[in-house]
Amino acid sequence: MESMGNLCRTHFCNDLGKGNIGEEVVLMGWVLRRRDHGGVIFIDLRDRNGLTQVVFNPEINPEVHAKAHQLRSEWVLALRGRVVARLVGMENPKLATGAIEIIVDELRILNTSETPPFPLDEETEISETLRLQYRYLDLRRPAMAAKLVMRHKAVQSIRTYLNDNTFLEVETPMLTRSTPEGARDYLVPSRVNAGKFYALPQSPQLFKQLLMVAGMDRYYQIVKCFRDEDLRADRQPEFTQIDMELSFVNEEQIITITEGMIAKLFKETLDLDVAPPFGRMTYDEAISRFGTDRPDIRFGFELTDLTEIARTCGFKVFRAIADEGGTVRAINAKGCAAMSRKDLDDLTEYVAQFGAKGLAWVKMKADGEWQSPIAKFFSDEERAAMSQVLDAQEGDLLFFGADTKAVVLQVLSELRLELARRLGLLKTGVFNFVWVTDFPLVEYDAREKRYQALHHPFTAPKEEDEAKLETDPGSVYSRAYDLVLNGTEIGGGSIRIHQRAMQSRVLSVLGISEEEAMDKFGFLLRALELGAPPHGGLAFGLDRLMMLITGSDSIRDVIAFPKTQKATCPLTDAPASVARKQLTELHLRPDWKE
Ligand code: AMO
Ligand code: AMP
Repeated sequence: MESMGNLCRTHFCNDLGKGNIGEEVVLMGWVLRRRDHGGVIFIDLRDRNGLTQVVFNPEINPEVHAKAHQLRSEWVLALRGRVVARLVGMENPKLATGAIEIIVDELRILNTSETPPFPLDEETEISETLRLQYRYLDLRRPAMAAKLVMRHKAVQSIRTYLNDNTFLEVETPMLTRSTPEGARDYLVPSRVNAGKFYALPQSPQLFKQLLMVAGMDRYYQIVKCFRDEDLRADRQPEFTQIDMELSFVNEEQIITITEGMIAKLFKETLDLDVAPPFGRMTYDEAISRFGTDRPDIRFGFELTDLTEIARTCGFKVFRAIADEGGTVRAINAKGCAAMSRKDLDDLTEYVAQFGAKGLAWVKMKADGEWQSPIAKFFSDEERAAMSQVLDAQEGDLLFFGADTKAVVLQVLSELRLELARRLGLLKTGVFNFVWVTDFPLVEYDAREKRYQALHHPFTAPKEEDEAKLETDPGSVYSRAYDLVLNGTEIGGGSIRIHQRAMQSRVLSVLGISEEEAMDKFGFLLRALELGAPPHGGLAFGLDRLMMLITGSDSIRDVIAFPKTQKATCPLTDAPASVARKQLTELHLRPDWKE
């Protein structure tokens, strides 16, 4: 093995082009591949930024050529050489450096490498566990490196924007008390305070509100948050928020400022104009048209309520459900009547996982005729009435869901997405933003037999609904808003309660006693008594934003060292057992076997 000696890097591996021809350069990097062509050896040298082709010619420099013979994939090199034009016909227009190559005069082998456990090209499919176990190799792959570079650019763009808009970046504690965002906490036992625990923050919600009381006026933080919840493609146990809070503002000002941030972000990462103001939709409208509060509006297939028609129809299943207070809704999949029986069976099976007890369908024939297993249960008039409200034309395919409202909404909203996936309607490179506003303040949790905050307990109710808080909490709307991008919730926030009395009223609706509130976040309640300004804010999920910007399938692809679906890290083997002694120090007496 050799040292770098006095070689000092002059360029990265994607810097060189025709303009450098004739220059002497020094490059450092990894061997992507070696090709031997009738005595001449070609190496693709790779670094974070790209590739350069380097050439070892026995006739020009036999000594260096002899050394190049031993090079293998992923060996680490330093080399000095001259930039020359590639021979005519040998250029590679797909490569930034495809017009040139380097004739090597000096080669230093800085390190060797065993054969990597998987090839570091873009083509080979590799299991995610293996990728995560050798994440440092996975990240050498250009597509993965590009995602980290993009994430860095995004964070820079956001920081500059917020700094320019008088936000102050402030750090808040990681060892703290539980923040009520609705997930389970990660706990850290205290050694010096026996029997006491810190919680890792689910978000900096309470601290950012305290910063407003402290007069900081505008705060932001690009911050890790921790939630022990069931993981999915867009959820990690630790993830990053772009967290912000502002004083003396209303919803409109917050929305305008954050739209500016998002527009700048898309311009500076994808060179795309996303043109605010973004669309708006109330929560009620989102639920009734799309069955969900995070609608993907890149395509149609909206829901239509047929409960009233079903109430008197001849199909017993639908009639009974309507009578029992359930709902019957349908989607018109325009022009999809050619779908095969097998596809329909697959879709029926697909929606069963969301609780669907069946999936009635209708293929629209000429003259409004129905081809359907349920056609016979309806009169001509009933079929005509349903066709009319669904705007059903020849060639359309109708799907019906009948059940409790919660089940039907979920089934049909998932069916919409699955249809769109199958029909290729989820175009990448298309970014459809929509603000969802006017959320209900609380929803009734039948299992717990109490109301839960839809956003969090510090969200302000709409002023015009305040009078109904005690008498009809379910009908109170809040000052919360979410930003949804292509069906993913990328951010959410609200105007907060800044008056102590109102906070007490909302906590009591949520069944949180004054005593419990004082115990859990009495410090916030006290701060509200000491000159809290009106304030509000929002947090974006940075990982989700980057997943969408880079066109990735999972947020794991835009996190350098993510966890698996089971919250483990195959690289470090976390979580791991610890010595009994450590537990004793922490005053923990486990009862599990070693
Ligand atoms: P909320 O809980 O909606 O709001 O979180 C804000 C945003 O964070 C992202 N997010 C996640 N991303 C990855 N993995 C997770 N497990 C995860 N959970 C949430 C989402 C979400 O929109 N304190 C409030 C914000 C506020 O009111 O200002 C909060 O945390 O993109
Ligand atoms: P059945 O009479 O149970 O054979 O159902 C006739 C058709 O109605 C089948 O295509 C079922 O998939 C469909 N179906 C049954 N129950 C429901 C339901 N709750 N929602 C939607 N479709 C249903």
